[in-house]
Amino acid sequence: MMPLNREVFAMLFALSALWTPRPLLAGNEAASAPPLPLGLEAAAYFEPADNPVTTAKVELGRLLFFDRRLSANDSIACASCHSPAHGLSDGLKVSSGIQGRRGGRNAPTIINRFSNSSQFWDGRAASLEAQAKGPLTSPLEMGMPDLAAVTKKVASIGGYRKPFREVFGRDINIDDIVRAIASYERTIVSGNSRWDRFNAGDREAMTEAEQRGLALFTGKARCSQCHSGWNLTDEKFHNIGVGWDKQPVDEGRFAITGRARDTGAFKTPTLREIARTAPYMHDGSIGTLGEVVDYYSDGVISNPFLAVELARPALSLEETIRLYGERSKLGREVAVPVKELNLTKGEKADLIAFLHALGGEGWQHVREPRAFPD
Ligand code: HEC
Ligand code: HEC
Repeated sequence: MMPLNREVFAMLFALSALWTPRPLLAGNEAASAPPLPLGLEAAAYFEPADNPVTTAKVELGRLLFFDRRLSANDSIACASCHSPAHGLSDGLKVSSGIQGRRGGRNAPTIINRFSNSSQFWDGRAASLEAQAKGPLTSPLEMGMPDLAAVTKKVASIGGYRKPFREVFGRDINIDDIVRAIASYERTIVSGNSRWDRFNAGDREAMTEAEQRGLALFTGKARCSQCHSGWNLTDEKFHNIGVGWDKQPVDEGRFAITGRARDTGAFKTPTLREIARTAPYMHDGSIGTLGEVVDYYSDGVISNPFLAVELARPALSLEETIRLYGERSKLGREVAVPVKELNLTKGEKADLIAFLHALGGEGWQHVREPRAFPD
């Protein structure tokens, strides 16, 4: 790490104080995890050894995250699809990138991605740093021809040279660009929800309906089999049948691992801020939380690779081998019988109420900078 220019740091720090409720670390000093809101697991916090979060780096990452000039025609920034107005998602069924081009997947929220787990619906990126390179050169997203062109474009903006030099001590390069963006993302969190306060012992924090919803979530409705732990996700991949009524079916995790049992499996998403991030699922095919609950209760689409958690009752070993064993068996005739939850109207309402108790704080500082470097 280069020695710090105190003046610039003081300026950046003053700037950062305008947007972050609690400043992270002073200047370029490395340290352990930043303070996290109630309910988030500090042990899950990860930053690579070569990319410690610092205030100046976060401020630089914020500029890059919002800067549309990182796209081929200056029209799309990361924030176009991960906007605070939509819980760090975009409110669209599937995202709209450069020249309005549409991909096949819904933009997930980027809150609480600070743990060292795989990124994307299918987990194809191993870190936030690796992930950030994807959209920059995707022809459907930011449309840059290649990563060298991204470096060249950022370096051509004179005003970026100084902050990059101060933060990284070298010329602008693509790895430092994504390091800064990833560091900014590590500050975008959500915790201290009514559910967290309830868990911490404040029995008044959730209404009675929300408490009944929580009991269903962990009990009869069996949601916590997959939406488990502090971030309401096991970070694993499951096929829950979404999209199996249309052709072609998105292979999901199978495209990455080549394992038959990963066919149509997607990463369990967090449910934090879930009331803000409609529409839902990897294909954006479910519009409201009410429809999500209806889906799980009595609408799950049967298919040969359906998660055992949703199948009736538990499959025997023999059946499991038959149904999951070979990809060549993909076909309607081996569809797994679905275990319906048959929730009552009242139970559905309680479950939806609980999902609304999962909004919290730690991302509200995400705001477009007033000015960008020229
Ligand atoms: C055109 C819209 C669009 C743009 C621009 C965009 N994203 Fe995304 N983002 C998506 C979509 C869609 C996905 C899911 C794609 C998939 O899983 O295949 C995604 C996934 C992600 C994820 C993974 C989240 C998770 O839960 O695994 C992260 C992190 C992320 N984007 C950050 C960024 C960053 C950083 C940028 C800018 C460099 C960016 N995105 C630009 C639409 C966009
Ligand atoms: C077998 C594991 C599993 C179980 C059980 C489960 N989920 Fe999910 N959930 C997932 C996966 C995987 C996805 C993403 C699937 C996709 O996009 O194809 C998902 C998606 C969701 C989404 C949409 C999130 C988003 O950001 O788009 C909501 C809301 C949700 N689940 C709520 C629930 C509720 C409520 C229950 C209980 C009734 C439940 N889940 C049970 C694994 C599970």
